[in-house]
Amino acid sequence: MRAIQIDQTGGPEVLQVADLTLKKPHSGEIRVRNHAIGVNFIDTYHRTGLYKLELPHTLGVEGAGVVEDVGPGVASFQVGDRVAYAIKTPGSYAEEINLEAQYAVKLPPEISFETGAAMMLKGLTVEFLLRRLYIHPEPGEKILWHAAAGGVGLIACQWAKAKGIELIGTAGSREKCELAREHGAAHVIDYKKEDVVARVRELTDGRGVRIVYDSVGADTWERSLDCLQPLGLMVSFGNASGPVPPMSLLTLSQKGSLYVTRPTMFSYFARYGSEMMTAVVDIVKSGKVKLDAPRQYPLDQAAQAHADLEARATIGSVVLVP
Ligand SMILES: NC(=O)c1ccc[n+]([C@@H]2O[C@H](COP(=O)([O-])OP(=O)(O)OC[C@H]3O[C@@H](n4cnc5c(N)ncnc54)[C@H](OP(=O)(O)O)[C@@H]3O)[C@@H](O)[C@H]2O)c1
Repeated sequence: MRAIQIDQTGGPEVLQVADLTLKKPHSGEIRVRNHAIGVNFIDTYHRTGLYKLELPHTLGVEGAGVVEDVGPGVASFQVGDRVAYAIKTPGSYAEEINLEAQYAVKLPPEISFETGAAMMLKGLTVEFLLRRLYIHPEPGEKILWHAAAGGVGLIACQWAKAKGIELIGTAGSREKCELAREHGAAHVIDYKKEDVVARVRELTDGRGVRIVYDSVGADTWERSLDCLQPLGLMVSFGNASGPVPPMSLLTLSQKGSLYVTRPTMFSYFARYGSEMMTAVVDIVKSGKVKLDAPRQYPLDQAAQAHADLEARATIGSVVLVP
């Protein structure tokens, strides 16, 4: 079967088509024939080596398709089931994959494979960020969310609105800001034209927000801290512009006894996986969160999908189609 592998780290050009053979699924595993595969920023971190992998390695941490085979001890799935899944160890950029059954969920008929593939990592991320941190937002509260028109961001706009949270979204163009607003952001800031800190202060009567969600990383870190009120929580959950450089803990005390967390979805998934997957399927099925027609690329054009994602040329979710 065809798969997209890397045998060295680097730019999009290191993504190569490989011809691989899969073994029978082991105990507790299912084999899925992928109909759509989600593309995520984390795939670019694996490709560049920011997040280390043993090489050669197939990329990709989510997908959706049909169960083709079931390993010993799997009672929850049958051959022919439509499923979506998220996996910590990459391998979904392929026509087929064996994965532990506990990381898959049945897809109801209302949810397409493209939506199923795009909703897992990103939807599960929004689920844990809004619902499972020790401090999480209350209905009526204003929060700041960077990259609000991205794949994760547009899900966050809608999920926040469904919970009555007033999301202040930042994005890098007027068009992206408009999209975030259409998806439920209560306020939007075009960070290329506006002073984010000043606008957040203005929107919060000078207080600042209690929680900032920042997946941009290096470029936004300082500004994000300045948008927080004392005792506020900085949620740094991505590195789109590069990892946040080391900092002095004294900064947190000087800016008002701030809290910081650097969470990863898979830590929460390991503890709450089945509840989280059910919550994502339920909210997408309800129509409160929609993933408007994810942008599709043929599996063989994974390199182009990466180039576009890193060039900020994508809006919303991206999937590969085998
Ligand atoms: N911690 C976790 O478990 C977890 C799980 C999933 C995703 N994430 C993180 O969430 C973020 C969003 O993921 P996604 O897959 O949905 O990607 P995405 O938001 O669709 O794309 C990233 C966006 O970041 C913004 N950005 C700002 N500076 C950038 C730069 N220097 N280079 C590229 N983009 C830049 C761009 O939006 P503008 O043009 O509006 O600036 C871009 O569209 C990523 O950082 C990802 O690593 C974390």
